[in-house]
Amino acid sequence: ATGLLSDSLGRPLRDLRISVTDRCNFRCSYCMPKEVFDKDYQYLPHSSLLTFEEITRLAKQFVAHGVHKVRLTGGEPLLRKNIEVLIEQLAQLRTVDGLPLDITLTTNGSLLARKAKSLKAAGLQRVTVSLDGLDDAVFRKMNDVDFPVAEVLEGIDAAREAGLGPVKVNMVVKRGTNEHEILPMARHFKGTGIVLRFIEYMDVGATNGWRMDEVLPSADVRKLIASELPLVPLDHTTVGETAERWAYADGGGEVGFISSVTQAFCGDCNRARLSTEGKLYLCLFASNGYDLRALLRGGASDEEIASAIGHIWQQRSDRYSQLRGTQAADTGTGKRRVEMSYIGG
Ligand code: GTP
Ligand code: 5AD
Ligand code: SF4
Ligand code: SF4
Repeated sequence: ATGLLSDSLGRPLRDLRISVTDRCNFRCSYCMPKEVFDKDYQYLPHSSLLTFEEITRLAKQFVAHGVHKVRLTGGEPLLRKNIEVLIEQLAQLRTVDGLPLDITLTTNGSLLARKAKSLKAAGLQRVTVSLDGLDDAVFRKMNDVDFPVAEVLEGIDAAREAGLGPVKVNMVVKRGTNEHEILPMARHFKGTGIVLRFIEYMDVGATNGWRMDEVLPSADVRKLIASELPLVPLDHTTVGETAERWAYADGGGEVGFISSVTQAFCGDCNRARLSTEGKLYLCLFASNGYDLRALLRGGASDEEIASAIGHIWQQRSDRYSQLRGTQAADTGTGKRRVEMSYIGG
């Protein structure tokens, strides 16, 4: 019953992002502001989480529909106990072309120095580490739990040494908060083989108090870098890529710009998101998901699950970033958008 899918805008399903926990040991203000995610915040109870077996069983059906890449996210995915076991299970799956899946993970890096080797051994291919600045004081303030930057840098080194490459580093840029870290970050990672990507601060969720005047457009970031380190544009490597790629003119490697606000990339968006409790979301900015856990726990067969996923994808029309600021971007239902820590980045 499975064949290659396309949604109502002709977009295939290629990328599955699985959130494995809604918890994090950081409190980045743009994602899990302390005032909301405080000691009274109700995280999902353990019984709500998909088990590794349930995740793998769902992933298998997504793969049958054409998924080639699986990204584990959170919250902080390395906080999920025995995550290596899940990676081992996912590494057994084969794409419709008979190839191993591209399995990767987005982490804040705090536990990476300890875990890089076991993650690699389990079958993880690469990692993306979030890092918003090199200045220790700026970094401690942005993670809002006083976490030292040196430990994340050690984590990045450990990932590289373990062969979890090419390592990517994501920097969320907030005007007035860390724009002075852009050049130091570019200089630091240039020539290392690590791909630094600048992310425009986005209006995800409903708690971060997002304001347009705190968004520094990627074009400005790029000009700032190019004023000191000349850049030349590169072609996209894959369809539907989030980042626009540029290379240092002197051969020092590449940087990327993820510009969801100023240059939406919904046109080729082939990403599905599975929440920690097994809901399928068709957009990072969605308010509602489709409860796949109910199917799993209600005794549905693999075929039934695959068929449900197919139907959901075929009617998908989400393109929030393209519609941002227009009335159509509002779901009209007045519903809150889900939080990034819940749905996964
Ligand atoms: P690789 O390039 O293969 O590593 O994958 P990727 O570009 O999807 O990487 P990553 O998960 O690091 O995504 C980078 C960031 O881009 C995420 O953390 C989000 O902030 C943002 N992002 C990813 N996917 C989407 C999307 O579909 N829509 C929007 N608006 N932003 C996204
Ligand atoms: N805007 C842009 N990027 C964000 N991230 C989390 N919240 C936001 C936001 N509001 C990024 C993190 C991490 C990835 C999971 O998403 O920094 O790199
Ligand atoms: Fe945690 Fe990442 Fe969110 Fe920061 S951006 S609070 S590290 S999940
Ligand atoms: Fe895809 Fe939604 Fe992001 Fe557009 S806003 S790229 S549709 S996840």
